[in-house]
Amino acid sequence: MPQTQAAQPPTVYLNGSFLPLDQAQVSVLDRGFLFGDGVYEVMPVYGSQPFRLAEHLGRLANSLAGIRCANPLSNDQWDALFRNLIVRNGGGDLSIYLQVTRGVGPNRDHSFPANAHPSVFVMASPLLPLPEVHRNNGVRAILVEDFRWGRCDIKTITLLANVLLRQQAVDAGAFEAILVRGTQVTEGAASNVFIVRGGQLLTPPKGPLLLPGITRDLVCELASANGIPIQEVALTVEDLQGADEIWLTSSTKEVVPVTNLDGAPVGDGLPGAAYRRIMELYQSFKGLARTGRYQ
Ligand code: PDD
Repeated sequence: MPQTQAAQPPTVYLNGSFLPLDQAQVSVLDRGFLFGDGVYEVMPVYGSQPFRLAEHLGRLANSLAGIRCANPLSNDQWDALFRNLIVRNGGGDLSIYLQVTRGVGPNRDHSFPANAHPSVFVMASPLLPLPEVHRNNGVRAILVEDFRWGRCDIKTITLLANVLLRQQAVDAGAFEAILVRGTQVTEGAASNVFIVRGGQLLTPPKGPLLLPGITRDLVCELASANGIPIQEVALTVEDLQGADEIWLTSSTKEVVPVTNLDGAPVGDGLPGAAYRRIMELYQSFKGLARTGRYQ
């Protein structure tokens, strides 16, 4: 019997080297490990083309500025690094994860070390499409109190609150936790939130309490360019409970219809016409991106 070859581990990038994932190691004194002192991005790749590259690099720069860490690479260097990693991992549709931490200090001290170099880690994993059943039937979501800090616009690797919030949803048999601060809906544990009401698309405005999602912005752009009325306004729990449609957006999940909120149907309990329209627009935009004509 011929021996079947074990799958090759993916190639990742760590601090200047490309190496197999199982050989990538960082010091226990890395501040990402000790303090969650770092930021990250998740960017889809379609047909070997990074999607919304400039937007992801712009947000990365803002996140790094937000934690007072110099950007270790220029945008051209990031671009070259991503393309190198895409080729090394076979190309096609991938999800790029990158993280930058403040690096390794001489000891465990909360304040910034004097001469630390940021640690840079990038990996490219297969991009798993959202199961068809979620697109066709929608998903369940629950409302949960948002107990995160006051700088949710920074994409930090310090995700314990998001982890606990998402787990609350999973424990309740739901796909996502939609977060509520006081009376205001902010976003999902790992997604942004839209509602459709009377043919209008509504989403909370950007600010310190939510991540400026790249998918959120693309949905806003596609809606504006195609005559779908869109407004960025504060949303309350009542707005969600009375919505015709609710959607979640993220780079890995695109646009997901929520058809059940806290056990009650959203609208008629099925993905709506506005959802089907935005998915058409999103998929045709992706099609152009695959050809390298748009990012
Ligand atoms: N998360 N809000 C939060 C808290 C998120 O973690 C994410 C994405 C989003 C959507 O942002 P974007 O459209 O840029 O992906 C909003 C990524 C996918 C993650 O942590 O894996």
